[in-house]
Amino acid sequence: MRRIRVPGDKSVTQRALVFASLASGESRLRGLLPGEDPQATAAVLRALGVDIPPFGGDGAEVRIQGVGLRGLQAPQGVLDFENSGTGARLMLGVLAGQPITATVTGDASLQSRPMRRVTTPLSKMGAVFREMGEPDRLPLEMTGGALTSLDYDSPVASAQIKSALLLAGLVGGASVRLSEPYRSRDHTERMLGMCGVPVVSHQADDVWRVELRDPPEQIAPLDLEVPGDFSSAMFFLALAILGGVEGGVEISHVGMNPTRRGLLQVLGRMGANVGADPFKEHDAREPSSSLRGLPSKLVGANVGGEEVPAMIDEFPVLAVLASRAEGVTRITGAGELRLKESDRIRVLADNLRSVGVQAEELSDGLEIEGSDHPLAGRVSSHHDHRIAMAFGVLGALPGNRIEIDGADVADVSFPGFGVLLEDLTAART
Ligand code: S3P
Repeated sequence: MRRIRVPGDKSVTQRALVFASLASGESRLRGLLPGEDPQATAAVLRALGVDIPPFGGDGAEVRIQGVGLRGLQAPQGVLDFENSGTGARLMLGVLAGQPITATVTGDASLQSRPMRRVTTPLSKMGAVFREMGEPDRLPLEMTGGALTSLDYDSPVASAQIKSALLLAGLVGGASVRLSEPYRSRDHTERMLGMCGVPVVSHQADDVWRVELRDPPEQIAPLDLEVPGDFSSAMFFLALAILGGVEGGVEISHVGMNPTRRGLLQVLGRMGANVGADPFKEHDAREPSSSLRGLPSKLVGANVGGEEVPAMIDEFPVLAVLASRAEGVTRITGAGELRLKESDRIRVLADNLRSVGVQAEELSDGLEIEGSDHPLAGRVSSHHDHRIAMAFGVLGALPGNRIEIDGADVADVSFPGFGVLLEDLTAART
């Protein structure tokens, strides 16, 4: 069995950079993801006056002196989040509570993604936005300041919306009460807890409620070890399950947050041979464990509804698993996939068909018919890191030959993905 680690969690790294910048005192962060997304967020925070030292792939401790909740400075130039939707949306929330004017933008992919899902509720709190390009899109000019409290029912389960609103309330000194149709990932709530800010969450009738009642004047710094990214780990777990690594794989120190690990349940239904070491389910900190995957015979599964949010980033890898399973996998209730780094429903269906898999696009999902025929062809990443990695895994399986245009985009969340893939598969006899 090959033992590997994957880089730090992207969602946790992004939040750690933001919270450390807003804290009163020095935060100590270990295992930060050095991927392009967090680097873009760090560059923006530097432009807002926070001294964030460079961080690389060694996971070494990074110390950040926070500037306090309202200590960010007006930036000189445009704030460019490049490909990072999480960075942009969370920071729109932070900037909404700062008495400064800033212009926010991103790369072509980020400029094609909706922003009113955060700017509409943030406007209700008092922030002012001016769309400088297309409606509902970046670039935006915004002015923040002291905010008023918000009671908001989000139409989608989205941790980015939830986090932007909680951060706006925290920085702008306003209470926030929100609901989402299903519970989305809770890294922000946990990190608020670690910084000494209580957040109340619970299931109420048919929605998930989250409340920030009395935002404090300052927050405590973090002492945090970022776990390996569950979503990154799933690419190598899939590779092992599909017989791409001799003897299987063990991935240590993988984040096991229950609002992230939904794919494990689906893998169980598909018949995958996967195991995890026992681990503690912390309330505030992020749980982690070692995961093992062994070659397995898979069957198709139905996936949809409330299980979607806890595996929202895993549909590219699920599509690849489904293409090698016996029978049909039907994914529904996942319309949000059209709004990710690419339209993942369309791109997955197109790419799967390009290599010889039968795949049907549904309005809110996909139907994929698995087979064990050798797969070959050319696909495009569409500048989407998870599409690049998913087809990297499919192409690395014995008998398959897949060329990927734009495979380098994996660096957005997983620097070193290609090298690790090469290393694990080159060792096959
Ligand atoms: C993220 C939330 C999810 C996820 C994204 C990271 C986060 O997006 O897809 O990769 O860190 O909050 P949505 O909030 O749009 O569901």
